[in-house]
Amino acid sequence: MSGLIPQRFVEDLLDRVDLAQLIGSRVTLKKAGANYKACCPFHDEKTPSFNVRPDKGFYHCFGCGAHGDAISFVREFEGLGFTEAVEDLARRAGLEVPYDQAAKQEIQQARTLTDALDFASRFYQSALLGEQGTYARDYLKQRGLDDSVIQQYQIGYAPAAGTSLFDAANKELQGPLIETGTVSDKYGRPRDLFRNRVMFPIRNSRGKTIAFGGRTLGDDKAKYINSPESDVFHKSREIYGLFEAKQAVRQLDKLLVVEGYMDVIALAQHGIRYAVATLGTATNQDSLAALLKQVRHAVFCFDGDKAGFKAADRALDNALELMADGLHLQFLMLPEGEDPDTLVRKEGSEAFQKRVDSATPFSRYLFDRQSEGLDLTLPEHRGELRARAEPLLNKMPKSTLRDAMWHEMLRLCGGRNQWQNRQPQQWNTWKGGRRDRVTEERIDVKLSKDSILCLALLEAPDLASDVTELAQGSRLYNQAGSFAAFITEREIRNRKSLITALALNSQKREQFYNLFDGIEHIPTRESTLAAARELLSPNEEASRQQRLATLLRNFANLTAEERQELRELSGGTPD
Ligand code: UTP
Ligand code: MN
Repeated sequence: MSGLIPQRFVEDLLDRVDLAQLIGSRVTLKKAGANYKACCPFHDEKTPSFNVRPDKGFYHCFGCGAHGDAISFVREFEGLGFTEAVEDLARRAGLEVPYDQAAKQEIQQARTLTDALDFASRFYQSALLGEQGTYARDYLKQRGLDDSVIQQYQIGYAPAAGTSLFDAANKELQGPLIETGTVSDKYGRPRDLFRNRVMFPIRNSRGKTIAFGGRTLGDDKAKYINSPESDVFHKSREIYGLFEAKQAVRQLDKLLVVEGYMDVIALAQHGIRYAVATLGTATNQDSLAALLKQVRHAVFCFDGDKAGFKAADRALDNALELMADGLHLQFLMLPEGEDPDTLVRKEGSEAFQKRVDSATPFSRYLFDRQSEGLDLTLPEHRGELRARAEPLLNKMPKSTLRDAMWHEMLRLCGGRNQWQNRQPQQWNTWKGGRRDRVTEERIDVKLSKDSILCLALLEAPDLASDVTELAQGSRLYNQAGSFAAFITEREIRNRKSLITALALNSQKREQFYNLFDGIEHIPTRESTLAAARELLSPNEEASRQQRLATLLRNFANLTAEERQELRELSGGTPD
């Protein structure tokens, strides 16, 4: 929906927001030069590595890599979508979001769909309380759930008759119910999708119902059926139980990820209120990314059988690429034949909680799993472990965790010398496209030349044509070249517009913020521009420096013209 709010408005809005004030109202900021520093609100830390640059319009955490502008801050901090975050910021600034006609329609449309789903949810809840819900109520009681948790998760009952929901809905809601798949019209006439099932509404971050899961009470072949995807329901992005967990836990800093609706609810029933389930494959990358947007610490729970280990392996594989510093993942393998629901009922919440607390860390799971069946006293087997583990570690972005895991692998495989010999080559082979940068940064942890030019483009987008020229002649400047193209294409003329354009383009935004990986501070405007000038026209920069020195030496005797020249040479003011 982001394209439907006029770009000019977003630009204006970002311009009006005082980033230091916005963030400062939620996090204690300390001024440090042009920077503000704080302990990062997005991961757990004791020394502040969260930097806010109001002049540049963005924040960046050198600890966990969280980054973005005012809009993304509100999104992450409040758990809002893009449009909602813009609305929130607009409200603070006393502005009204000027949706265009298409956007208004789309929003209206989505509202109608969630209204219809909310209606369905209320219908199912009241059916559960009514006479036809007797059996379902008994079933839930027999599964150990009491009224308060039933209410908290808004559990309901879909009556057995073919069209009870459809018939209960008024004309306006019938269409949307069909559109969300809650009522099917496959056979030319309406028929409720869910019949004689216990209903679990799936809610979004605002608590609006966006879909359902339904468990059979009869002997249907499908134990569970789920709403199909719709305009308001994108399976891989939604997390079942998240809204409820956020309501129950004030500071949600850890999530326990389980497989089923009933697992989430049974755990809540036993006072473990931070369990959620991903919908569909617990472990695909989108689901994982959605989860890790919420918390930096997640414990994945799997059955201890073969399938469970396979699922855990898949989760690990998908997590590798996302494994930035500050992320803490653990794996909890349950005894065979148990799921969280049966186990917490059997052994109680304290014992279950102990399992969660002692779950296997990501790194240990990886090495344990890869060493399975190997005898590491044998050189051949050590070689095999290395052959298995190396490709996995290569998928991780560079981080202190990754370095530590390399050391661990080499320790397990024996021989530190190997590590030292292979070091440069290892770095070079990491992620094809970023070679130069990686080697360069690893050695002196400074911004690469490519990154300097990117930053300079942010300060002065009018450098784009010079950068394009330079980038065409050298493979060293891939990123800068791509940013310059982005700027030229969109006819971006100042920093403000560039920040906005980045806010609206997540791919470019990631690319931009990735420039800061591993560096400790963002250079000032002056040093960025000076360094960029040096790269763009080394000779000119040298003569500029010379001329500058001359003028400064004669400072007392300068003519008005020379003074003007001095001002220009020492770098104009930011716009
Ligand atoms: P399980 O079969 O493990 O169910 O499926 P469960 O959670 O233990 O259910 P109970 O305890 O028998 O009630 C786990 C999850 O997989 C999905 C559902 O999301 C379910 O919660 N699933 C399972 C389906 O979508 N369809 C199915 O037919 C079965
Ligand atoms: Mn179960």
